Amino acid sequence: MTGSAPDIILETRDVSRHFGSQAAWFGEKRVVRAVDGVSLAVRRGETLAVVGESGCGKSTLARLLVRLIRPTAGEVLYEGRDIGGLSEREMRGLRRDLQFVFQDPFSSLNPRMTVGTLVEEPLRVHGMGSRAERRRRVDALLQRVGLRPEFADRYPHEFSGGQRQRIGIARALASGPKVVIGDEPVSALDVSIQAQVINLLEDLKDEFKLTLILIAHDLAVIRHMSDRVAVMYLGEIVELAETEELFARPLHPYTQALLRAIPVPTPHRRAAAAGVKGDVPSPLAPPAGCRFHTRCPLATALCSATKPDFADAGGGRFVACHYWQQAAAAAPAPHAEAHRTAAAQRRFALYRDRSEQQERLRTAAAAGPTTT
Ligand SMILES: Nc1ncnc2c1ncn2[C@@H]1O[C@H](COP(=O)(O)OP(=O)(O)OP(=O)(O)O)[C@@H](O)[C@H]1O
Ligand code: SF4
Ligand SMILES: [Mg+2]
Repeated sequence: MTGSAPDIILETRDVSRHFGSQAAWFGEKRVVRAVDGVSLAVRRGETLAVVGESGCGKSTLARLLVRLIRPTAGEVLYEGRDIGGLSEREMRGLRRDLQFVFQDPFSSLNPRMTVGTLVEEPLRVHGMGSRAERRRRVDALLQRVGLRPEFADRYPHEFSGGQRQRIGIARALASGPKVVIGDEPVSALDVSIQAQVINLLEDLKDEFKLTLILIAHDLAVIRHMSDRVAVMYLGEIVELAETEELFARPLHPYTQALLRAIPVPTPHRRAAAAGVKGDVPSPLAPPAGCRFHTRCPLATALCSATKPDFADAGGGRFVACHYWQQAAAAAPAPHAEAHRTAAAQRRFALYRDRSEQQERLRTAAAAGPTTT
């Protein structure tokens, strides 16, 4: 085992997670290649977004990164130490550092526990502080996420989706983590509430000096929040770049298609704005060569025969495509400000208007349960 560079807090090396699946015919055992040979280094203090279509392996990668599941192959290094094979006992100390915010706060919060007990639980599990100290910390955390301390005695069902997500965030922060992974932390919420929670996460990231890994479908959220973006397709990372560079000049044909899928307002651009064609192939039998070749407008015989390397494209960018130079040269800038729909612009504006959001958060804190 070799360590990571000091600025790398979390790293996967050729990591895979395959799930067993009993095929309907001949009783043949097949595997779902949910994550397949992913190498990714997360920088200390950054917000890294992971994006890709449903089923491409984002949640599986997120769970691998915090060792909620074990890899089938490859390494997951936290602070330079391979955590992939550690026992639960060995992981216990590290769990303080690696926390997860789930998409659905309702199903991730035990309905029979009060909010105070839920937020206190990680402190108790890790033997942190006396009872009174823990209680004080719970009160402070609830306040910090925009909830009144007296809510500690209530149960999750008494709260709205946005408030429950704040409870989930307080719980994730309780143990003083270094890394927080948000797996679609706002996609179940109303758009206006999404903006509040996203802005809260951003503030907390700075305040608690977190490294944040954000899984999100919404490109507005990703562009607003992340420093870098990893694009996944069928269990693999196909492009990695600084956020603004990725949006300004996507190199991989799949990234280009994802960005074009954001609707554009003018009719003559609609054809060019269509997203990627066809369905994602089954992860039970991913295509040979480049996995994207069955849907890629630039595919050649080389693509179906030979898997492209995840190659250094310069400037800290990486891309897995035989023809990325041609793809990049041919693609129009798909994400210029002028091409956004009015709806998309409203969403972007929600994230930008920090003072308004902070005011809403203060109002939410002052109000009782079920107001947001
Ligand atoms: N426990 C499991 N057992 C079997 N297959 C699984 C399991 N977990 C995930 N998979 C499969 O692995 C693939 C990747 O799933 P994953 O949930 O990681 O995708 P995702 O990108 O998070 O999708 P979504 O955007 O819908 O949340 C899918 O084909 C999924 O059905
Ligand atoms: S390698 Fe070929 S099929 Fe794959 S993305 Fe590039 S051009 Fe398309
Ligand atoms: Mg998922």
